[in-house]
Formats: sequence, structure tokens, C-alpha cells
Amino acid sequence: MSRSVLALLDVRPAYTEMLAQKYDLHRWDQLDDKQAFLNQTGKDITALVTSAGFGLPDGLIDDLPNLEVITSFGVGYDSIDIEACRRRGIRVSNTPDVLTDDVADTGIMLMHATLRRIVVGDHWARSGQWAEKGPMALTRSVRGKKLGIVGLGRIGQGIASRAEPSGVEIGYFGRSPKQVDYRYFDDLVTLAQWADILMVACPGGDATKGIVNAPVLSALGKDGYVVNIARGSVIDEPALIDALRNGVIAGAGLDVFYNEPNMDRAFADFENVVLYPHSASGTVETRDAMAQLVVDNLDAWDQRGELVTPVI
Ligand code: 8YV
Repeated sequence: MSRSVLALLDVRPAYTEMLAQKYDLHRWDQLDDKQAFLNQTGKDITALVTSAGFGLPDGLIDDLPNLEVITSFGVGYDSIDIEACRRRGIRVSNTPDVLTDDVADTGIMLMHATLRRIVVGDHWARSGQWAEKGPMALTRSVRGKKLGIVGLGRIGQGIASRAEPSGVEIGYFGRSPKQVDYRYFDDLVTLAQWADILMVACPGGDATKGIVNAPVLSALGKDGYVVNIARGSVIDEPALIDALRNGVIAGAGLDVFYNEPNMDRAFADFENVVLYPHSASGTVETRDAMAQLVVDNLDAWDQRGELVTPVI
């Protein structure tokens, strides 16, 4: 009998179809009466498919007494209670590496888009203001700036290597120094004082909650920019909105927010902010690769009791 798998979402249609052919697949998003399903079938489910966005709904694993494994679509696992899984002996996998390039590209894209005011410029051309009023206001150059990266993991390093050819000097903050030539800061305020652009690229979760706070934004200063491709939780969002409103910093490029998809509407009023709807990994190529890795992890578990990219 094939393994019973509960998928909280459709990772990508072709890959969900692959899962449906191999496994006894149940689609959470298509269940009319979820509690009735859990009462009746919960004990049969041994594998769960989720994503960084969906995470692990509170209490769900209590209704899945025989759950062995969670395969998540996404690199971040701050939305999954890893300690609760550890206690239950449930293994967890994610999808690292395959999304590094697109996410790092997005960090660079938002940095350039923010300093060069791409959205304002697009509107200037499109709306006819260019013809009516002449050239748009001058923007700021990326070249020569100091880029302070918060979290020099895989994605942070991808950003650093892409930023170097743009002529920026690189510094970073993290738990410990790495074997790299970039300047290490063991304190975030000091990094922000040094940097012109603060690039947030660390994991989310309790350890990094609100670490980019009002003092860090003040240290960055009125000519400084923030880019966040990590998690909304890493920046104190009310402090960021205050800083943007009061000219404490010059601008921001944001892919992530506290309350997704219902982001704080205050951001929509700022001309000096470039917004992206948590889509750093959102290309066909990368999402397919992530979905394939979800399938590969599930297959490896099913066939050999192993995970290709384990978190625990
Ligand atoms: C995805 C992400 O948008 O990988 C992550 O941690 O945040 C993103 O790549 C997300 O996983 C899709 O739900």
C-alpha cells in the first residue's frame, strides 16, 4: 500500500501530480471538513508537505500521531516548530541551495531599484511627466557605497559576490566571523554606522526577531538604505515605518513583511520604498527546482528512510 501523504498546498501542479501518482495524496486545501478528515484519516498520514509560507499550523501534528516526516517547500523553517518536531521524532527537510541564486539576485535587484528609484522612474516615463516636466530627479549611485550584510550564509555570500563587481565595499554581521575577506562586525549598530546600505539576509525566528530596530536604523542614518530579502520579523516594522516617515533613513527595498500578504499599507505611501511581494524565489525555474527537491526528499524517505536536505 502506498504511503499516505498530506499536502498543505499545491507546490507546483506538475509536481503535485507526481506525488499523486506515487502516493496516497490528500490535499488539505481541498478538504471541506478538515477536522472530520483528521479524525478519520489523521492516523494514516506519515508524511506532510508544507512550505515556508504555510508552515505548520498550531496543533496539526497532534492530530497526526504517526507522522514521520515533514518536507517543506522553501529554505526558511521559522514557521515550523522544530523543537516540537524533535520531541516527537519527526524529521524535517527544506529546499536550500536551489533558490540561492534567485534570492541573491533579488537582493541586488532591490538594492539597485531602491537607490536608482526604478519605480519612480518607470512612472515618470509612463505617466508623461518626462515630456511635461523634463528629466526625473537625480538618484544615488551604488558604486562606492558600503554594503553591510546581516547574515553571511549561502544567500548573504551570493549577494556579496554579486555586489563586488558593482564596486561596493562589503562588511557583515553574524554570529561568528567567516573565512572571507569582508570586514566582520560583531555588533549590528556598529555595522549600520559603517554601512550605507544594510542588506538583511539572515534566517528568521526567535534569534533574529527585531534585531534591526530603531537604534540600528538611526545608526544607518538619513543617507542609508535597508534591503530585506530575509523575513519581515528581522526588522522592527513599526520602527522601520517611523524611520521612513521621518527621514531617519533614505529608503528601503522590501521583499518581506510582518503580515503577509496583508502587509502594512503604510508602505504603499512611501515613494522611496520599492516593494516586492515575497517573490525572491518566485521564478518558474527555481520554484520547479524547489518542488523537485520536495519530491526527492519524500522519495528518499519513502525508499531509504533518509532525507536529501534535512533540517533535523
Ligand atoms: C518562498 C521563502 O517564497 O524559501 C523560503 O524560505 O521564503 C521563499 O522561497 C516560500 O517558501 C514559498 O512559500
